Amino acid sequence: MKSTRMIQRPNIHSATKFVRGLGTRSPLIDTNEIISMTDSVLRIEGLRTEFKLDEGLLKAVDGVDLTINRNQTVGIIGESGCGKSVLAQSILQIITKPGRIVGGSISLTLPGEQPVDIARLDPLGRDMRSIRGAAISMIFQEPMTSLSPVHTIGDQVTEVVLEHRTKVRAEALAQAVDMLGRVGISNPKSLIKDYPHQLSGGLRQRVMIALALACHPQLLIADEPTTALDVTVQAQILAVMKTLQQQFGMAILFITHDLGVMARMADVVAVMYLGQVVEQTSVHQIFKNPLHPYTRGLMASVPRLGHGKERLQAITGTVPAPINLPRTCRFLGRCPEARPGLCDQGVPSLIEVAPNHSVRCRLHEGRQP
Ligand SMILES: Nc1ncnc2c1ncn2[C@@H]1O[C@H](COP(=O)(O)OP(=O)(O)O)[C@@H](O)[C@H]1O
Ligand code: SF4
Ligand SMILES: [Mg+2]
Repeated sequence: MKSTRMIQRPNIHSATKFVRGLGTRSPLIDTNEIISMTDSVLRIEGLRTEFKLDEGLLKAVDGVDLTINRNQTVGIIGESGCGKSVLAQSILQIITKPGRIVGGSISLTLPGEQPVDIARLDPLGRDMRSIRGAAISMIFQEPMTSLSPVHTIGDQVTEVVLEHRTKVRAEALAQAVDMLGRVGISNPKSLIKDYPHQLSGGLRQRVMIALALACHPQLLIADEPTTALDVTVQAQILAVMKTLQQQFGMAILFITHDLGVMARMADVVAVMYLGQVVEQTSVHQIFKNPLHPYTRGLMASVPRLGHGKERLQAITGTVPAPINLPRTCRFLGRCPEARPGLCDQGVPSLIEVAPNHSVRCRLHEGRQP
């Protein structure tokens, strides 16, 4: 039930922001141009991550292809249980047991270096440990997953700088204070003496962003980073992330179930359903011309400005567990546009139906880009 409720109770503030946000992205270029940039940091191909459970094989990520370029934000959206977090955990090789990557590649390209397939690295090995928290870092919904309760904020951020940027403690402390200032903390010099439990949720989230960025990562993965915050703090944190992206030129993989946040943050959007990408295009196209019935359902569940009393159209049913799935379209049981004899004949492929617009739906097969 959880996932359906999420769709049925959209955040009015977010919806308002997303309409405003779309109106103020300046200028509202069709970000197809951005998609075609070739300076990729991460290229994921055919990624499959599974959990071998007593109930059967759970295919949490099932054949995902995704490219993230420098300076670009790729947004992943979908209901709870669609595989967004397992995708993020797969990139960092921090999947909870018994989950493991069983196929595909995750090619990381650092400036001036040859691509490395990090899916083939030992999750506990030296190479993967040096990528984690250096080339790629992650921020979570709950800051306490990243912050140590027994060390001061200053010690924690300084430690990251010492590990990755400089060996001189005084210099590391200065960089830590600088980074805390950049994430919008007004009194970083006094805050470094505090412990996480002494801070508000918004401040803790800012500290976690500072911690994630202290090593100047090439890719930042943000998994629902502002979901637990009130809308004002959320807006401030999103603005800080955008500014820091411009300063550092990093790529961002931004995971959310909130369309308003997506509209603000993403250049490119991938919609996930049951472990697969079902639609992928620019943020402009996803709002202007959503093609997959699931994407349309997500859009219809958000109230629009000026239509405040309009009843929300929710996607019926819930996301099933991706175990022993039939060889049909995965959205078949919930799709208002399903056609018997067509949609139950095998799993649809993700097809580019217009330039830089791909969709996984039988109704769109045969269309040319
Ligand atoms: N540690 C785990 N053990 C078993 N199943 C898991 C585990 N983590 C995630 N899953 C399953 O993988 C699927 C995708 O989960 P997740 O990526 O967390 O979804 P999302 O982040 O989109 O809400 C779900 O069916 C979930 O139940
Ligand atoms: S293939 Fe059929 S069931 Fe699946 S999304 Fe398209 S119309 Fe719906
Ligand atoms: Mg998640």
